[in-house]
Amino acid sequence: MTLKLYIMLNALACIQGLPNKTCDRVKIQDRWYEMEIIWANFGRPFNLYAHKTTNTVFFSYTVPETYSDVDFQLAFIDMDTKEFQNIAGIRGGCSVAIDHVNEDIYLGGSDGIYKYNMMTKLADFYKEAGKNIWALFFRRNLFYISYPDQKLHIEIDGKFAIVKEFESFEVDQFHVTTDSEDIYFANKTGFYKYDNARLKVNVINDVITVRQIAEDNDGDLYVCTNLGVFIDLKNEGFKKVLDFKNIYSLTFDKDNNVIISDEKRIIKLIHTMTGCPDTRNVDLH
Ligand SMILES: *[C@@H]1O[C@H](CO)[C@@H](O)[C@H](O)[C@H]1NC(C)=O
Ligand SMILES: *[C@@H]1O[C@H](CO)[C@@H](O)[C@H](O)[C@H]1NC(C)=O
Repeated sequence: MTLKLYIMLNALACIQGLPNKTCDRVKIQDRWYEMEIIWANFGRPFNLYAHKTTNTVFFSYTVPETYSDVDFQLAFIDMDTKEFQNIAGIRGGCSVAIDHVNEDIYLGGSDGIYKYNMMTKLADFYKEAGKNIWALFFRRNLFYISYPDQKLHIEIDGKFAIVKEFESFEVDQFHVTTDSEDIYFANKTGFYKYDNARLKVNVINDVITVRQIAEDNDGDLYVCTNLGVFIDLKNEGFKKVLDFKNIYSLTFDKDNNVIISDEKRIIKLIHTMTGCPDTRNVDLH
């Protein structure tokens, strides 16, 4: 697991802390948000993923195994009660995908994919024993990215196969948008859009390192990177809306509040009418 963590932390390399000065507000586009600390513990919370019906946020964090080794642990937090719970039984648990239509919660670790039952609080083994799961994604089909070869797999008729079009390169992040079914992916070389009609890869940015791709409840696409958070303005392209370089992950709860994580905290950004003097948000570093 050490190498996996090393790669992940490189991708996530944190620079500086979020502000904790007198005015604890952040601005995204023209909206101001108040920061509420949801979880401030240990480890590095990442891969945040909201389950809307129960208003819980699933995530993974690092736990020290021995003096020199670390491992991953999956957990979730109820956004209403702030109740925290570890998910037992998944070694190296680090990835989450939710099928919002069938309410299936898929979790991945260093030994395959599991299905999580919110009622019994049990993770049952699903498929791909022996496979180290780097990432999971669900849009009509279940996808996973294997580690360490970073290959994208799709489940068709109950069986997983490598996605042919993506076979010749690595994939670290993968996302298909809800409405337009646009295909985005990222790897260590850059951030790309896959043109499904022309079977062609278009480069969006070959400088940034993408940490997570997420959609809000209105279908706007957010990309969390080492240079800040970007939003897809469609015709105008991607625009930076949050200049913090230490955001690891982001998701949106059932009320469309932004939930982000930095190196040791999970923070809820709650929409508010009052902001800070504008100068504060220009450059935080
Ligand atoms: C936030 O507060 C902590 C402890 O009070 C301090 O060490 C840190 O430098 C502060 N960060 C910022 C960005 O002001
Ligand atoms: C990342 O994807 C691009 C576009 O498909 C590809 O050209 C590049 O070789 C990939 N990088 C790696 C490290 O696989």
